[in-house]
Amino acid sequence: MTQGDINILAIETSCDETAAAVVRNGREIRSNIISSQIELHKLYGGVVPEIASRKHIEKINQVIEEALKEADITLEEIDAIGVTYGPGLVGALLVGVAQAKAMSFAAKKPLIGVHHIEGHVSANYIEHKELEPPFLCLIVSGGHTHLVLVKEYGEYQIIGRTRDDAAGEAFDKVARAIGLGYPGGPKIDKLSKEGNSKAIEFPRAHIEGSPYDFSFSGLKSAVLNYINSMEMKGGDINRADVAASFQEAVVDVLVTRTIMAAKDFNMKKVAIAGGVAANSSLREAMARACSENGFEYYYPSLVYCTDNAAMIGVAAYYEYIEGKRSGLDLNAVPNLKIGER
Ligand code: KG4
Ligand code: ZN
Repeated sequence: MTQGDINILAIETSCDETAAAVVRNGREIRSNIISSQIELHKLYGGVVPEIASRKHIEKINQVIEEALKEADITLEEIDAIGVTYGPGLVGALLVGVAQAKAMSFAAKKPLIGVHHIEGHVSANYIEHKELEPPFLCLIVSGGHTHLVLVKEYGEYQIIGRTRDDAAGEAFDKVARAIGLGYPGGPKIDKLSKEGNSKAIEFPRAHIEGSPYDFSFSGLKSAVLNYINSMEMKGGDINRADVAASFQEAVVDVLVTRTIMAAKDFNMKKVAIAGGVAANSSLREAMARACSENGFEYYYPSLVYCTDNAAMIGVAAYYEYIEGKRSGLDLNAVPNLKIGER
């Protein structure tokens, strides 16, 4: 560590991963510890909020200690503490926020509340050292589907959003319908490789007057209807074909709308973020579309797509150097909007 380095300790507990990381100078990940609760929630077919909060409380101290140890840094040497304060599950968020506030008070370190989705966008800065705003980012996670213009560090304009289900939610619901279990995204991704994506023609929803918005509930219903009608006819359901055809429909609208927005808003760079950005078909289709249309394409490694604290540390760094700080009255905001302070 050299003098002048800025080290941020970041904490993320918005859903079902207890995570802490140390980020140096905004883009260098010194440690990134994630304690996942997936195995636990699998038993219930989805995230159980009460269990999530309880597990965060159990794990948080250990995860933070590990993050500091792996980064070979002490709390005294940390410059600021960043923490996700929304959106997410209120009880889960509160564990991270309370922990960060207590540490900030005890160690006399500045506190920075971070927007979870801004964290997802910032994951792109980690491995693309040259990436700077402006760019267009498609954020697709379990709870969110947004097309956002990143105008500056910390300055976002939403140009499109889902009207109903988030993309990841659609993956999880369809996975359940075809008996794949939770979390559905990675399972559909894997099974799709054995299926024919052209086997079934599922609908691609367009929203009149809102060209950059998304809707996935009709697609989900179409998949459920297809399964029901096949069952009624006593026919066999090829699960791999259903998975691949569903995935193709999602990827198709995500890519088409992103490319259209990049053209319309005159963006040269396109990035993807969030758990669904880990989808192999989306990653490939977006790469192809960007190259065909002359856009530079950015995407995070898989570990930085799904929830982690490194991305929160990166977002916190850009707030820190802008002089933004949170008070000890920072609270969890479960439905925090992007760009809102
Ligand atoms: O970003 P994330 O970890 O948590 C939220 O902030 O919501 O995203 C989780 C979502 C889940 O819905 C999960 O099924 C989906 O991301 N996901 C995927 C893949 N990996 C995770 N969806 C499609 N393909 C994947 N490979
Ligand atoms: Zn997330």
